[in-house]
Amino acid sequence: MIGLVTRIGRSVSWRSRRAVRELREGVRGYLINKRYAELHVDRDPRITYPRYKSLDEYIDVEKLKSLDGYLRKKVESYLKTRRCQEFETGLLKQKLLSRRRPGSKIIPLAASTRPFSYHDVEKTDLWKPSEYASDFADLMDFIDTLPFKATSRIIIMADDLGRAVSAHRDHSYTEVKHEFIWFRTNLKKPFYMQDSKSKEKVYIESYSAWFDTVNQFHGSDGTGKIGHQY
Ligand SMILES: [Fe+2]
Repeated sequence: MIGLVTRIGRSVSWRSRRAVRELREGVRGYLINKRYAELHVDRDPRITYPRYKSLDEYIDVEKLKSLDGYLRKKVESYLKTRRCQEFETGLLKQKLLSRRRPGSKIIPLAASTRPFSYHDVEKTDLWKPSEYASDFADLMDFIDTLPFKATSRIIIMADDLGRAVSAHRDHSYTEVKHEFIWFRTNLKKPFYMQDSKSKEKVYIESYSAWFDTVNQFHGSDGTGKIGHQY
């Protein structure tokens, strides 16, 4: 019994410490967002948010859509293993109490040769196909057709329970080059951009997009549909 109480005590204290740490990080992120909003009052008036750029005209959308069933089966089997990485929004969540780990999972198809740093996404030399890439050969073949000279981080982000993804900004380093394509094989995920001031939202309607991950929030609504969001 004493052992059980000790174990419960340790568990409670660990959970409390984690809760305090998450709250502290949430406040830090909130203050960074607040300072950011104050700094950018004089932004170039030609730049408006929320905004994204569909890249469908540059890619083979029909080929992408044809991968839907293939990808669903593969991703579902990976999610069942429960060994996938947890997606994290980072510090800069729009709402103080929204979840930093909303439940979505990540399957990395390229991995950095250095310990992971988000700011290495612009250093293409560092990134090599991961141990999972050969299992997604058809998708990797499709990625080879994309209009890039080189690639760096490649991930699949998925949720088999259709949970919402907390609105967030990826980071606050405006000097980091961030050239990427976000794409999907179906239109089921209600993925949006949101302006930090007006709170206006725009939902992505295309199969592919580039969007500014630093100067606007982005996230997705929950659908509650199992096996739904990729
Ligand atoms: Fe993000």
